[in-house]
Amino acid sequence: MSDSDLAAGVSSTALMVAAARAIETHHPHSLLRDEYAEHFVRSANSPVALPTRIEDVSLGDADPFWGHLGRFFAVRARTFDDFLVDSAPHTPQIVILGAGLDTRALRLDLPPSVTCYEIDRHDVLTFKSKVLGSLGALSPVPHHLLPADLADDWPSALLSAGFNPSVPTTWIAEGLLLYLPAPVETSLIDTLNTLSAPGSRVGLETLPGQDSLRDHTLFDTSTAETGSHLGGLFDPDPRPDTPAALGAAGWTLTTSPVDTFTRRYGRGPDPSIPGPILQSRFTFGEKDA
Ligand SMILES: C[S@@+](CC[C@H](N)C(=O)[O-])C[C@H]1O[C@@H](n2cnc3c(N)ncnc32)[C@H](O)[C@@H]1O
Repeated sequence: MSDSDLAAGVSSTALMVAAARAIETHHPHSLLRDEYAEHFVRSANSPVALPTRIEDVSLGDADPFWGHLGRFFAVRARTFDDFLVDSAPHTPQIVILGAGLDTRALRLDLPPSVTCYEIDRHDVLTFKSKVLGSLGALSPVPHHLLPADLADDWPSALLSAGFNPSVPTTWIAEGLLLYLPAPVETSLIDTLNTLSAPGSRVGLETLPGQDSLRDHTLFDTSTAETGSHLGGLFDPDPRPDTPAALGAAGWTLTTSPVDTFTRRYGRGPDPSIPGPILQSRFTFGEKDA
């Protein structure tokens, strides 16, 4: 498998979000620091040159893709970063589903008692491991990269790596569910619940109405900007109501639109530009005792 394979299909979305994190890291009003992101972008042999600085983008902050959508990725990453840092002292395990090229185990201040498991596709994690290895980058906490398809038997990989379902876990599914067929999302959430001891926490992102948003013009620009049509990668099925399913399984959750977090952090996608981004919802909560 070559690095250019990462530029195809759903794996390419990991690279796109890494480019957004690289841009954000070097932005004067940055919400986060991810010093690894630009190394992934530079190593990836993408068919389209991806930016790593807002100065690389001709329209800068006004660019609909790397400005508006890029700030969405930035505020999303910061929101999930803060959720993880707040949750980690309460759960000995973290599982990041569809972790992509995110480097939370390396870049966040996590307690040494925590073990971090990341699950993603084989090509993504092979590339990630290679780039981190070339940088000599090591996680200060125990860190397992588990290549698996989330439509298949991913729990076996998790359990074989030492995951213990009888102690609480913090789960993250950020920028993931919209790519999964609806029955896979339902089964993934059902399994997540089964593997969660009371006191487990979850952070997830949903895009209600995604089936009608796939053709939005914003996603047309993604072909020129990244080499892939982002909307075309969204699953076309009507979505299950995942927050409701977890609520029915005994989780106490709060779901909020991205605007809530844009106001909290003072930076994010422009709320006056209508479109799919503003429909994104972040859900956070805990499994009841
Ligand atoms: C948009 S990226 C988000 C990555 C990361 N959460 C972030 O924000 O940087 C979506 C990720 O989901 C992964 N993914 C999508 N479908 C998957 C599947 N069936 N099994 C495993 N990973 C999957 C992709 O490979 C990709 O890395």
